[in-house]
Amino acid sequence: MKKGCEKYVPFKPIHLEHREWPDKEIKKAPIWCSVDLRDGNQALINPMNLHEKLEMFKLLTDIGIKEIEVGFPSASETEYEILRTLIEGEYIPDDVTIQVLVQARPHLIEKTFEAIKGAKNVIVHFYNSTSTLQRKVVFKKDMEGITEIAVNGARLIRDLTDKMKGSGTNIRYEYSPESFTGTEPDFAVDICARVMEVLGATPENKIILNLPSTVESSSPNGYADQIEYFCKHLKNRESAIISLHPHNDRGTAVAAAELALMAGAERIEGTLFGNGERTGNVDIVTLALNMYTQAVDPGLDFSDINRVKKIYENTTKMVVGERHPYAGQLVFTAFSGSHQDAINKGKAYMKESGTEYWEIPYLPIDPADLGREYEPIIRINSQSGKGGAAFIMQNNFGYILPKNMHPEFGAVVKAECDERGRELTPNEVFELFRKEYLELDGPYKLIKHKIYEESTDGTSLVHMDCIMEFNGVEMSVSSTGNGPINAFTNIMKNVTGEDIRFVSYSEHAITSGSDARAVSYIEILMPNGKNYFGVGISHNINLASIRGLLCAVNRAEKG
Ligand code: KIV
Ligand code: ZN
Repeated sequence: MKKGCEKYVPFKPIHLEHREWPDKEIKKAPIWCSVDLRDGNQALINPMNLHEKLEMFKLLTDIGIKEIEVGFPSASETEYEILRTLIEGEYIPDDVTIQVLVQARPHLIEKTFEAIKGAKNVIVHFYNSTSTLQRKVVFKKDMEGITEIAVNGARLIRDLTDKMKGSGTNIRYEYSPESFTGTEPDFAVDICARVMEVLGATPENKIILNLPSTVESSSPNGYADQIEYFCKHLKNRESAIISLHPHNDRGTAVAAAELALMAGAERIEGTLFGNGERTGNVDIVTLALNMYTQAVDPGLDFSDINRVKKIYENTTKMVVGERHPYAGQLVFTAFSGSHQDAINKGKAYMKESGTEYWEIPYLPIDPADLGREYEPIIRINSQSGKGGAAFIMQNNFGYILPKNMHPEFGAVVKAECDERGRELTPNEVFELFRKEYLELDGPYKLIKHKIYEESTDGTSLVHMDCIMEFNGVEMSVSSTGNGPINAFTNIMKNVTGEDIRFVSYSEHAITSGSDARAVSYIEILMPNGKNYFGVGISHNINLASIRGLLCAVNRAEKG
């Protein structure tokens, strides 16, 4: 007995002359076939019950999958009953073809034909194992013996189809040389050709030849070579649809499927999120969205990926990993400051340039196309930078803090982080903003005010009468200015006795439509040489600025 890795038999690459697939590109979507309800279901700790299978079936049709392997009706009474319910309950849309799997064994084929009675469109999918290993250790038959199993199965299927003629059921055929990737390439071609002959495949009535990598055992290029070889050596190639059924034992099923499509395949069998035996089947979601990001319409609808994920998780009790391509909880989250910065620049570029393409670094797909959102995680710590908190305020809450204000609010947030000894969540950042600027309980309060304007020779003078409160004591103050902010600055100069200098002002709307409110950011310079920002919100733009100024003065007073 050999030790360690020496006991494994490496994949034998096939000799492929004039290999063409590396120069090919995927330009159109394959025919999609879901095997969630069969391969996926058989690999669950608790297989789906009737209700769950119906829910999954509905989801698959909502996504736009038109060929769905619904089960293995000859394998168990439950599978049989579920198929009957689907047919008798009229759950199958007219444009959807159901597929049923059966081993190439006479009594199972007969039972399968009973199970499909009354269905409109059916693919009868039969298979037997053809690999060197299975022939040797399981079936103990030579190539001829294995071919006989397939050919006999095909004959019976043809006879049973003939008997069903006129019943209203439209039957197509699929044959899988199971463990294709472990089968001698010429033998795989030969057995499929014999099956095609028996079933009378023609270009008008094509057979599906499904070439599974039942156990993934080579790098993806190995599978692509096998598919190209098969396509080139199969006589009557135009009478067959070449289908892939990749499993993911080496974690490269998606890549294998992509290269094998380049090698000439036209159809893919897979599952949502790659559920299936062992490490699963190929993941249809990833494959389809990989195409989408290459400007190839996959013909499947993942515009609400969270719904797809939720139904998948509820029905299978499996969990989609946090980093699962396109669907994982964290895949649109940017942790790194430099990534966030590049994403912001990409967003700004798209807006300014009006480009019709998606040109944002670090985001290979627009999260909105999947009903998702980009979520920057700003780490408020020594690495977050002063723009981090401002970014959260803009991105999560719609407050566009002026650039000069970033260091001031950044320092407030950083101090809180140091105090708590951890990062802050976006809501905690907003809470700090609210306490620091919007709900500041300062010594100065504006109880009442009146503004009126006088205009002569094109110049206007704004008069302002206020009732102010300072430390609980009310006072009436009046002043004038060239505008409301100027008039109120003069009032605050009177009230505080300080030479307050107005430095900058910016404002924007924070809600749209008739309920629009303005937020004003006011910067002042106090005689101590320090600048302070204040923030005010109101439906009235003048009042927003007045509140902003009052907030700045109160913050200065607090020190
Ligand atoms: O993985 C496989 O080979 C299968 C066949 C039954 C198609 O699931
Ligand atoms: Zn499989």
